[in-house]
Amino acid sequence: MKNVNELTKEEAAKELEYIAQEMSKSDISYYQLDNPYLTDAQYDTLKLRNQQIEDRFPDLIRSDSPSRRVGAPIKSEFAKVHHRFPMLSLGDIFSIPELEDFIMGVKRFLNTTETPIFMAEPKIDGLSFSARYENGQFVQGATRGDGSTGEDITANLITIRQLPLTLPPDAPKTLEIRGEVYMSKADFLALNQKYEKENKKTFANPRNAAAGSLRQLDSRITAERKLSLFAYTWGEVSEKSWHTQAEFFECLKKWGFPINPYNKLCSSLQEIEKHFQYLEEIRSSLPYDIDGMVYKVNDIVLQERLGFLTRTPRWAIAHKFPAEQAITTINNIRIQVGRTGALTPVADLEPINVGGVIVSHATLHNEDEIKRKDIRIGDSVIIQRAGDVIPQIVEVIKEKRLQNSQEFIFPQTCPECGAHAIREEDEAVRRCTGGLTCPAQAIERLIHFVSRDAFDIEGLGNKVIEEFYRDGIIKNPADIFTIEHRNQPETLDLFAPIQPNSFRLQNREGWGKKSAENLFKAINNKRSISLPRFIYALGIRQVGTATALLIAKNYNTFSKFQQEMIAQETAKLISIDGIGGSMAKDIVEFFAEEHNQKIISDLLLQINVEEYIDTSRKDSPFSNKTIVFTGTLEKMTRAEAKAKALEQGAKVAGSVSKNTDYVVIGTDAGSKATKAKELGVNILSETEFLELIK
Ligand code: IVH
Repeated sequence: MKNVNELTKEEAAKELEYIAQEMSKSDISYYQLDNPYLTDAQYDTLKLRNQQIEDRFPDLIRSDSPSRRVGAPIKSEFAKVHHRFPMLSLGDIFSIPELEDFIMGVKRFLNTTETPIFMAEPKIDGLSFSARYENGQFVQGATRGDGSTGEDITANLITIRQLPLTLPPDAPKTLEIRGEVYMSKADFLALNQKYEKENKKTFANPRNAAAGSLRQLDSRITAERKLSLFAYTWGEVSEKSWHTQAEFFECLKKWGFPINPYNKLCSSLQEIEKHFQYLEEIRSSLPYDIDGMVYKVNDIVLQERLGFLTRTPRWAIAHKFPAEQAITTINNIRIQVGRTGALTPVADLEPINVGGVIVSHATLHNEDEIKRKDIRIGDSVIIQRAGDVIPQIVEVIKEKRLQNSQEFIFPQTCPECGAHAIREEDEAVRRCTGGLTCPAQAIERLIHFVSRDAFDIEGLGNKVIEEFYRDGIIKNPADIFTIEHRNQPETLDLFAPIQPNSFRLQNREGWGKKSAENLFKAINNKRSISLPRFIYALGIRQVGTATALLIAKNYNTFSKFQQEMIAQETAKLISIDGIGGSMAKDIVEFFAEEHNQKIISDLLLQINVEEYIDTSRKDSPFSNKTIVFTGTLEKMTRAEAKAKALEQGAKVAGSVSKNTDYVVIGTDAGSKATKAKELGVNILSETEFLELIK
């Protein structure tokens, strides 16, 4: 083989093409046929050679280069993707009589006595994706989002080896392939084990792990997680060569997409039932979670005739399995104190395998739930795990109750700090009144502060935070950023005065010079933070990542937001679509508390909060403008209109104020239109709006 330095450009291009093809063949054979085409060593050699050639000829990097599988640099947010063909969901059924009704309905609609052939497919419990190909090249990946607008996860999808980046020449010019991204049970357990060791937050189930991995702004992290996928349907297609779902699966196979081996054609109700029962039986031994079966009318002409209800097809239905259950015993009932002081009871269970996943805790929700189900320590219980919910206790097996068992008495004081725990009249939760004097609340707040969607500081896992808090190294968020300064260097100057709060990280158990340096580096990397992350990190009650983003979009700088909140000016806040009165109340209360003000001012001495600049669709006339829709729209639903506006980088508000830039008026527009006229706000008809966003 020629030395990379001696390659001509043409030779380099040829070789890159060859490597991309070989590695793609190998990926398909490895992940889908279970029959490796290259040895690990051959694979690694090709990968290295590819990298060396690309380093020398960066302009030759191919869109299907294997080097793209390792992830791309971090992004501050996901761009939006409009689905030209909406990504719909499915209607649910839970029993055979409902299945009979469904089939009957299909026959009636088609005016036939014959039962059509159905494709019965396992319903993969993951996250749906759409992968767009143009001229045989993978160009864009998207999540489902609300069905009409999803998030651009191109960089993340590329990292999944099972996704072909190039299609054979016979594939349609434009083609959107849709399916499910999932994490296998084994990969989920391994990931959680690793995270437990590293003191990181673990995932509740494979589905959450898949979602958390796929929706990573840093796709290099996605690349490290093991994700898999199955393809099962299509979106936009330029020329459709298949006439049935079965033929479509044949195409998918040919194009290199993984399809589920249990997809099966069924020509009668009995056959469908049999396949359903079969999968329910083998479900727990499958390497991935499925939560039911999907039945699709096989013939596409019939599908087209059947069409759609509002959000679901008439030609397909999801038949759900009952949640997976198991019997185990409650070893203990613990009360966890959350960031906002909520006391949450958790049952520690005798670990048990539920459908292939080991469960050792279940949530008990709140004190009423414990009373209602009369749950006691030592009880035998039926627990269940259903898709994306934390395992729950279905019921107590009373016959197995121990003789000396005692009713569980919910504490009236905080188990962590001893402060009174009170329950507001209309609330189900009891809360510790200790505020930040309660170590549990303080620790939870710190944990939240450094968590993935907030400051995301590597090396500061839950256990580390807890230890640092108990030893007085970190008491509040600002302390994180002075830790390096307070750390005593390796060689101690005997004559230097000892600084207050000083310690020696490198001498602590589990730490060394290198890990201490890494931690300082990770912290220093976060001295500048985006506005949405910062707002979320503060841990204001009810303010999750979505709300934090809305606030950032509407205020742009932290000081502007802070000033208005301290002045208790909430008019603008409440006018934001998605923020309500109760949330606004929590936000204002947060800023009113002196302790919080001190935390923020201390923090701002250490870090810089970046201004939020909305980069989506800068060229649109609605970019960064506030729009209100009112009246009945003719050409689109309100949700569609909203999605369209957001796509243009606009903010959508629910009411008209002096901050409103445009009011789009449908028929029978009422007071909002009048108010817009009074305030002199730009008024647009629906047609004018659509014209402007073209
Ligand atoms: S077909 C219009 N097939 O289930 C039909 N969906 O509840 C679109 N899902 O959003 C979906 N396995 O995320 C289809 N074999 C399968 C599926 C499947 C899992 C998910 C998908 C969809 C949801 C609907």
